[in-house]
Amino acid sequence: MSFSGIKIAPSILSANFCHLLEDIKAIENKCDYLHIDVMDGHFVNNISFGLPIVRSIRPETDLIFDVHLMITNPEEFVEPFAKAGADSITFHYECTKDPMALIAKIKELGKKVGVSIHPNTPVEEIYGLIPYVDMVLLMSVVPGHGGQSILPDTYEKLQKIRAEITRTNSDVILEVDGGINTKTIKDVVDSGANLLVAGSAVFAKPNPGEAVEELLKCAKESL
Ligand code: DX5
Ligand code: ZN
Repeated sequence: MSFSGIKIAPSILSANFCHLLEDIKAIENKCDYLHIDVMDGHFVNNISFGLPIVRSIRPETDLIFDVHLMITNPEEFVEPFAKAGADSITFHYECTKDPMALIAKIKELGKKVGVSIHPNTPVEEIYGLIPYVDMVLLMSVVPGHGGQSILPDTYEKLQKIRAEITRTNSDVILEVDGGINTKTIKDVVDSGANLLVAGSAVFAKPNPGEAVEELLKCAKESL
């Protein structure tokens, strides 16, 4: 995998909401993506933020808005998030009875579509969706909170999903989310991830821009 294909998606969950725009501007020139964690207090035991934040920051940056919906009723919210400025919308496989219909709905809205897998869900369950999505997001911690440690079976799961993407010759980004830092980034990249969400490893640092550079450096050294 070429280094140029490895990208960091900083998660604003760990940003300071008193100066959110300042935090975004600190990483804007180092990244293509901004990861936006929407939590509903049902699917996960935390509430983060929703449409007003997406709407407010949309005119302020050209970063790709990678919206990660950790909500039980994604069907009801994909259109509002599309209108608010999402570029890609990722739903949880566990939160829909009809993933193919939801994929079609997101595509009809003109957005990229991702499917996310909870750590308790066997990765094989989403194999059939791989040819139809733009992105697979593997949760490498139990979703709900930033700052957790990566689950040790993440590497093997990434290898399996990467093998399936390759086997089906699918043009799919493999994103990993949770516990990514300068120590873990080498192994997730070596295991096949190419879009790396980093919340606390970026925005909990005094200089978020330098933190992104450091992560990319560690990813490069891993190859
Ligand atoms: C967790 C969220 C993550 C979170 C990652 O449920 O989906 O995107 O922001 O935070 P870190 O990088 O601190 O583990
Ligand atoms: Zn996330």
